[in-house]
Amino acid sequence: MKAIAYQKFGNTDVLQTVEETKPAIRSNEVLVKVKAVSINPMDWKIRKGEMKLMSGSRFPRHTGVDFAGVIEDTGVAVTNFKKGDEVFGVVKNTMKDGALADYVAVPGTLIWKKPTAITFAEAAAIPIAGAAATTALQKMGKINPGTSILINGATGGFGMFLLQLLKDRKAVVTAVTGTKGIDYAKQWGADIVLDYTKADVLTQNATYDIVIDLSGKMGYSKAKRIMNRKALFLNPTPKPVQIPASFLNNLFTNKKHVVILSAASTPHINLLTSAIGNGLQVEVSRRFPFDKVVEAYQYAEKGGVTGKVVIELD
Ligand SMILES: NC(=O)c1ccc[n+]([C@@H]2O[C@H](COP(=O)([O-])OP(=O)(O)OC[C@H]3O[C@@H](n4cnc5c(N)ncnc54)[C@H](OP(=O)(O)O)[C@@H]3O)[C@@H](O)[C@H]2O)c1
Repeated sequence: MKAIAYQKFGNTDVLQTVEETKPAIRSNEVLVKVKAVSINPMDWKIRKGEMKLMSGSRFPRHTGVDFAGVIEDTGVAVTNFKKGDEVFGVVKNTMKDGALADYVAVPGTLIWKKPTAITFAEAAAIPIAGAAATTALQKMGKINPGTSILINGATGGFGMFLLQLLKDRKAVVTAVTGTKGIDYAKQWGADIVLDYTKADVLTQNATYDIVIDLSGKMGYSKAKRIMNRKALFLNPTPKPVQIPASFLNNLFTNKKHVVILSAASTPHINLLTSAIGNGLQVEVSRRFPFDKVVEAYQYAEKGGVTGKVVIELD
């Protein structure tokens, strides 16, 4: 089968199409014929060697962590899926494995039935960004009417889900986005929208009860300036040192710094599929065929993407 692999850390030029044997499945695993794989920033952070502490440095490596497809075979211990089921899921080890291949073998616990109303591309776009958004929602705790929430970087994959999940919570949500994302931010439920290319959110004389930085460019030290006295800063892009540092910080200040490390699991996916049933939109703004994987990553890594970019396989 064909697969995407790389033999050293680097830019998109390290990505190679290779021939590999179809993976064998263990008793608890399923073999999925892959139809779509979504692109996440973690793909290129790992590929560039920016997450070596977690990813390790062994090669060859594969890429693309969330996918959708059709079950080809099931291990003897898998009872809730059968050949032909349309599913979506995540690879076993998101730091090391990749779904950009004709087939992927994963445990039955890491796949879910694809809602019939959505396409394979839309389903592949859900697990990583969607689970991050549901985790962020949980970390926000009780949201009262009028709670002011700032989402910095609100119309990428993560923001798309988070904005829509916050829609019915009666919070006052400010979305910071690039120019292309303004209409989407409004459509997905933002009460106030700021274009970061025209205005600096740090100098608007507005403060917030919750700030979440999805751009990775604000950071807690800047965010403190726009946080209310007992506010929360949610950080899904922590540097390793910030994980223990945030615990220490939170012992001594009311402006809490909370790190988000999410993983797709059944409760998250159930919440998301139920929200999709109630109208949550999964925006796949650009699709690429498998033979344009390099172009797909170049496009996504350049920025300016609304929602998700997905690679489709035959
Ligand atoms: N910790 C976890 O468990 C976890 C899970 C999932 C994701 N993440 C991380 O969360 C982050 C967001 O994920 P994602 O999938 O939403 O990524 P994404 O699709 O690339 O979205 C990032 C957004 O930030 C915006 N942005 C860029 N520069 C900005 C600035 N100066 N001010 C305000 N916004 C700016 C981008 O807008 P433009 O493109 O228009 O510039 C883009 O919409 C990524 O770093 C990802 O690795 C963490």
